[in-house]
Amino acid sequence: MTDAPTKTPSLSRNFLSFIGLIIALVALVNIGFLVFADLGAEHVNPYVGVLAYVVVPGIMVFGLALWVLGMLIERRRRRRHAPDEIQLYPDIDLNNPKTRRTFAFAAVGLTVFVLVSVVGSYKAYHYTDSDAFCGTMCHQIMHPEYTAYKASPHARVGCVNCHIGSGATWYVKSKFSGAYQVYATIAQKYPKPIPTPVENLRPAQQTCEQCHWPEKFWGAQMKVFNHFGYDEANTPRETRMLIKVGGGSAASGLAGGIHWHMNINNEITYAAIDKQRQKIPWVRIHDRKSGRVTEYFLENTEITHQQALAAPKRVMDCVDCHNRPSHIYEPPDRAVDMALLGGRIDRTLPFIKQQAVAAITKDFDTTDRAKESIAGDLHKFYKENHAESYEARKPQIDSAVTELQKIFATIRFPEMKVDWRTHPNNVGHFYSSGCFRCHDDQHVSKDGKRISKDCQICHSLVGQAAAGVVMVETPKADFQHPIDLGDLRSMNCADCHTGSSM
Ligand code: HEC
Ligand code: HEC
Ligand code: HEC
Ligand code: HEC
Ligand code: HEC
Ligand code: HEC
Repeated sequence: MTDAPTKTPSLSRNFLSFIGLIIALVALVNIGFLVFADLGAEHVNPYVGVLAYVVVPGIMVFGLALWVLGMLIERRRRRRHAPDEIQLYPDIDLNNPKTRRTFAFAAVGLTVFVLVSVVGSYKAYHYTDSDAFCGTMCHQIMHPEYTAYKASPHARVGCVNCHIGSGATWYVKSKFSGAYQVYATIAQKYPKPIPTPVENLRPAQQTCEQCHWPEKFWGAQMKVFNHFGYDEANTPRETRMLIKVGGGSAASGLAGGIHWHMNINNEITYAAIDKQRQKIPWVRIHDRKSGRVTEYFLENTEITHQQALAAPKRVMDCVDCHNRPSHIYEPPDRAVDMALLGGRIDRTLPFIKQQAVAAITKDFDTTDRAKESIAGDLHKFYKENHAESYEARKPQIDSAVTELQKIFATIRFPEMKVDWRTHPNNVGHFYSSGCFRCHDDQHVSKDGKRISKDCQICHSLVGQAAAGVVMVETPKADFQHPIDLGDLRSMNCADCHTGSSM
């Protein structure tokens, strides 16, 4: 028995299939609209992308699945009622014009659907790797990282270049941890701040070194450091130094200098007893060329050698110094110096450096409250202490307030508890220990060698001036501290230079 005597209604004529079809169609129209909105938009909106390429297609597939399920159930129902009329498997006879039409229709439909899903998954793949997705999807969680990134030298390098890199393994890893992060966001289970260092950051060889070529580092780079004093005149001070960035390879000049650590011949391993890797009781250098291995232990400490050796170890790479290549949270002291230098805050306002730093160093629960307080503090100070010039200087005070509010919003994130103290920068030694974590003259080897704190190994002074008056001009002379402190090698700069008011 092949032909049913009367024309049976289509299997899709059932409630479930009907609902499924409606869902799929509504989703399809929405996808069309969202894709159009996404392509036409000038600024990428993370939510539109997620809806267009991830959420709504999911709903469409669900609708289609309901449609098919409805037909299967309907088929079973009809077979139960009339087992003879309806066969176990459909009878596909391509000689029958009606079957042929249905078959062609189904084949075209399936091909289009597969093509659209391929394009869709490709878009979803790219979309979930975009900076807008990483940086703004979870809104306030990534707000500090994204804001700092936008103002960094790497603002045009995608998040994925440093956090994922190329290759399928890390892509899949990132999507798994990403899925957990989405859950943590929705469930509000994320830590504040997001812990640093990132435990499973991809090794720098596979990220940074894809763009930066370690062998290329050589010679020295001139750098000018500008500061303003905490006195009435906001005395400008300038230090010019040659930073000895060389050392990547013996082939390109002398095998010394800062990137010497990265010399392919050297391997430095260290152990840190704190999560932030700021306290380093043990360091080992392996010079592969000469075979020399030297171990250094921190002296004058309660940490025993056993404890030091049991702490988590790490082979030094780019990120151990450049831990803030992209998410740089400037200390208030430095942020205000930059604004004064650039003329964004009027430096003829008496005590403005001192007052500005004090105003943005205070702690607040929210950025809005901080902004109010900054305005209040500055006006109060000038009204009370410089009443005679207050009215005349109001425009400059107002613009200083606006600038400081802007600075606060780019360097401090009270909602996520992020600032320069939670995320210290390891390059240098001025506002946190940085290089002095090891180069402190206190890491000693068995034969008495010390990891050097010599002020000349990393930079040489080219010139120094205060209020435009030259203090030092002979190259290679020693840095003169503005206040005589005696032997600078016995000090830790960051003990006094905390990044905020002193
Ligand atoms: C130039 C490379 C680079 C780029 C580009 C980059 N990051 Fe990072 N990111 C890092 C490094 C390095 C760390 C911290 C490493 C450490 O201390 O372990 C980090 C840390 C983080 C952290 C942990 C918290 C912290 O500040 O230490 C988050 C979250 C983060 N990045 C998100 C992002 C997002 C979102 C983007 C894109 C908008 C991005 N990153 C772009 C290199 C980069
Ligand atoms: C996709 C390419 C790319 C990747 C990956 C990358 N960088 Fe860069 N980096 C650049 C470019 C381009 C510049 C120059 C930016 C400029 O001068 O405007 C730069 C600049 C720098 C600078 C100089 C910053 C300054 O203040 O002038 C440092 C330091 C640096 N990168 C370190 C790193 C580290 C560490 C990593 C890995 C965590 C990394 N980069 C990953 C492209 C990259
Ligand atoms: C005992 C505390 C102390 C230590 C330690 C210290 N400084 Fe200072 N430093 C000061 C004071 C106080 C000032 C003057 C601030 C002012 O008058 O505005 C100052 C000013 C400076 C300035 C001028 C710029 C500015 O912010 O006004 C530089 C540069 C400087 N110090 C570098 C260093 C370096 C480098 C080290 C470590 C080798 C160091 N200091 C260690 C207390 C200290
Ligand atoms: C021992 C610490 C240390 C390590 C490890 C290190 N750097 Fe640097 N790097 C520095 C310092 C310090 C500077 C000078 C920065 C300054 O004064 O602003 C610098 C400067 C740079 C610059 C800008 C100067 C230039 O010559 O272009 C780049 C780019 C850079 N580093 C990339 C890297 C990369 C990539 C790696 C890993 C292969 C790396 N660094 C490893 C400390 C380090
Ligand atoms: C984890 C420990 C550690 C940190 C952090 C560290 N270094 Fe080093 N550094 C060493 C060791 C160990 C040596 C080699 C000592 C030896 O020769 O036995 C060295 C050697 C050097 C040398 C070569 C010295 C010479 O005599 O030629 C320079 C330059 C240098 N470091 C710069 C830096 C700078 C700049 C920073 C900070 C951005 C830094 N280091 C941070 C451990 C460290
Ligand atoms: C292990 C390497 C190293 C040693 C040793 C070292 N420095 Fe530095 N120093 C640096 C680096 C790297 C920077 C640049 C940091 C930056 O670019 O922000 C720096 C910056 C400075 C600055 C400018 C800080 C600022 O922001 O104004 C001063 C001043 C300074 N060093 C003085 C000293 C003195 C004094 C000594 C000896 C006690 C010393 N340094 C020893 C690596 C070193």
